[in-house]
Amino acid sequence: MKLGTPLSESATRVMLLGSGELGKEVIIELQRFGVEVIAVDRYENAPGHQVAHRAYVIDMTDGAALRALVEKERPHLIVPEIEAIDTDMLATIEADGLAEVIPTARATQLTMNREGIRCLAAEELGLPTSAYAFADSLDELQRAIDNGIAYPCIVKPVMSSSGKGQSRIESAADVARAWDYAMSAGRVKQARVIVEAVVDFDYEITQLTVRARGVAGDIETHFCAPIGHVQKNGDYVESWQPQPMSDAALEESRRIAKAVTDALGGRGIFGVELFVKGDEVVFSEVSPRPHDTGLVTLISQWQTEFALHARAILGFPVDATLRSVGASAVIYGAMNETAISYSGLEQALDVQTSEIRLFGKPEAFDRRRMGVAIASGGDIDEARGRARLAASRVKTEK
Ligand SMILES: Nc1ncnc2c1ncn2[C@@H]1O[C@H](COP(=O)(O)OP(=O)(O)OP(=O)(O)O)[C@@H](O)[C@H]1O
Ligand SMILES: [Mg+2]
Repeated sequence: MKLGTPLSESATRVMLLGSGELGKEVIIELQRFGVEVIAVDRYENAPGHQVAHRAYVIDMTDGAALRALVEKERPHLIVPEIEAIDTDMLATIEADGLAEVIPTARATQLTMNREGIRCLAAEELGLPTSAYAFADSLDELQRAIDNGIAYPCIVKPVMSSSGKGQSRIESAADVARAWDYAMSAGRVKQARVIVEAVVDFDYEITQLTVRARGVAGDIETHFCAPIGHVQKNGDYVESWQPQPMSDAALEESRRIAKAVTDALGGRGIFGVELFVKGDEVVFSEVSPRPHDTGLVTLISQWQTEFALHARAILGFPVDATLRSVGASAVIYGAMNETAISYSGLEQALDVQTSEIRLFGKPEAFDRRRMGVAIASGGDIDEARGRARLAASRVKTEK
């Protein structure tokens, strides 16, 4: 694999589809290799736009607009950072040999819809998952619950992320409300939901898994140390690495992660979401891209999840070794305003080992992730305490 000179005829060009905080870090890693980066998002001045060679605002679910931009820019690699993309057009672009899609167009198609990935994992690969069913109407949802999913259960639009449209049903009284909520929030106007039995877990992890070429050219699978995290309202608020696990649970996590990433194929990092109880592990879902809980790797790994992704997609070897125990804590907008300011940074950065990343998002919402605090420590409690303390000291203001 050769790399060229950016902004010249030899340039290696990479197009990011979605340029949020995770994309921004991937772009910074690509910039360090002298890659020419084109950042695309649906709004202006997205975090990744601010560190790329060129920035575009398009609706990525509009296949014609997407293809026109790819034909204009002729990237060598297309790197999806979000799910809301016309993935059928990505498949056409890949099939036409216009660009290589990371990890593969088929992987983006399968993972943008909960049905695709769940059927692959549970039915084709035989991996353990929650009991689940799909429903196209309130009646079908009620029948699925009565016919075996039972209470409590969780309803999610088949196309949605970050917990949008997702709710927990405790009893028959909640079913209609959960259906209406899912219909109000699905990303694509499609009246279809998955209903899952609630998995009783001790803790949940993200098993970051990298498919990268070894120096001999063959694809190798690398596992990062497991990341533990806390979720609130469908978004992560805190993560740490490594999550302590039994040897059996760790081995089973890696077996599941290997099976699902082998099936998706291609090169790059995957965030495999798993529920763990004792030695038992249940597959939840997988993102074929860096994972938000993996922001902790900005401090806990020699090669962050963003560096791992950049190296893997460019065809280079990777090293997923842990550097130190670390933790991350999210900094929220805490208001609905544009062009906000951040104070308390002196106090936040005074916390031992702490670092603050502000994403530079043009508009804050109350529960929008605007930054993250990261810290290392002698053990998980110390690292978590430092990250939380640093995050709590950052104040947003208008
Ligand atoms: N079947 C389940 N049993 C128990 N908890 C669940 C189940 N499904 C989801 N959850 C909880 O809800 C969280 C979000 O679920 P899920 O990952 O499916 O949603 P999402 O919208 O894809 O979120 P994200 O995009 O943030 O990953 C999980 O991390 C877990 O804490
Ligand atoms: Mg998830």
